[in-house]
Amino acid sequence: MSKIKTIGVLTSGGDSPGMNAAIRAVVRTAIENGLFVKGIYNGFKGLIDGNYIDLNSRSVSNIIQRGGTILKSARCKEFHVKEGREKAFDSLRKANIDGLIVIGGDGTFAGAKVFFDEFGVPIIGLPGTIDNDIFGTDFTIGFDTALNTITEAVDKIRDTAASHDRLFFIEVMGRDSGCLALWSGVAGGAEEIILPESEFRIEQLINLLRKGAQLKKTSSIVIVGEGGGASGKAYKIAKQVCEIAVEFETKVTVLGHIQRGGKPSAFDRVLASRLGVISVYSIISGRSNCMVGWLNQKIEYTSFEKAIKRHSPLDESLLGLYKTLSS
Ligand code: F6P
Repeated sequence: MSKIKTIGVLTSGGDSPGMNAAIRAVVRTAIENGLFVKGIYNGFKGLIDGNYIDLNSRSVSNIIQRGGTILKSARCKEFHVKEGREKAFDSLRKANIDGLIVIGGDGTFAGAKVFFDEFGVPIIGLPGTIDNDIFGTDFTIGFDTALNTITEAVDKIRDTAASHDRLFFIEVMGRDSGCLALWSGVAGGAEEIILPESEFRIEQLINLLRKGAQLKKTSSIVIVGEGGGASGKAYKIAKQVCEIAVEFETKVTVLGHIQRGGKPSAFDRVLASRLGVISVYSIISGRSNCMVGWLNQKIEYTSFEKAIKRHSPLDESLLGLYKTLSS
């Protein structure tokens, strides 16, 4: 018999499309297995404040197709200090919550790991972030939708770039990872992709663009991965290019938070549903302190420690591919 009678579910960090589908899967699987479910608002902040709501199967009706998260999300500084976590533990006990399912990225898992280490609360993580930068899963919930949002935007920009013979720099999200940049660059047929993981040389970029012009390219798209979590890198690079290569008429588009919203793609809904269901069976069967991921076409468990510390590598084969295809 499982010791878990009531579970709490929360979403934390940057929201991502598909989080609602994951919440729905967690709630319905838990109810089906005779558990009680409490939704925790605003991530770890709600845990500290005791901001909970009882959830049943009807509470999660009509949310599978909705972007964002019905439980809201936050990046909680208070949870970084022991006092905050003690408050969270007290409120958890008062609400009789025996285990947690946390949906988020590496910041969420770092918080979950400390909380588990200090108080031994059973916790299972689901990878939810558009960045796709979590070690232990091929895809994170929200990546596919964000990628499609970016690709659609790049297609639209390409129309106007071609009409005006312009060079466009399009900046995409990804705090520590160029995964969105790489995949959207390949999908959008970009001439160049600037990744936070790779060394960037302005002369190389200009040579490539000039070579393209010699080959009768009249417009070009350069995807810039933001890296470092602050937007504006594309403006800096475009300025540097303009100063040297005056022949290009240059424009910049920073896609920003549009990448985080919108209806989740079918892929994200299926991934979220699959991982959500497994997370409940995992916690019932006594697993804890780990993330459930989808790796090489099967469910894989990765300890929070590994998921946080190891860097999710970029797909090497795509790196070679875009260079050949952009000529
Ligand atoms: O981690 C997801 C993400 O969207 C990153 O790609 C981006 O750097 C960051 O969150 C932006 O965070 P915020 O919405 O807090 O500005």
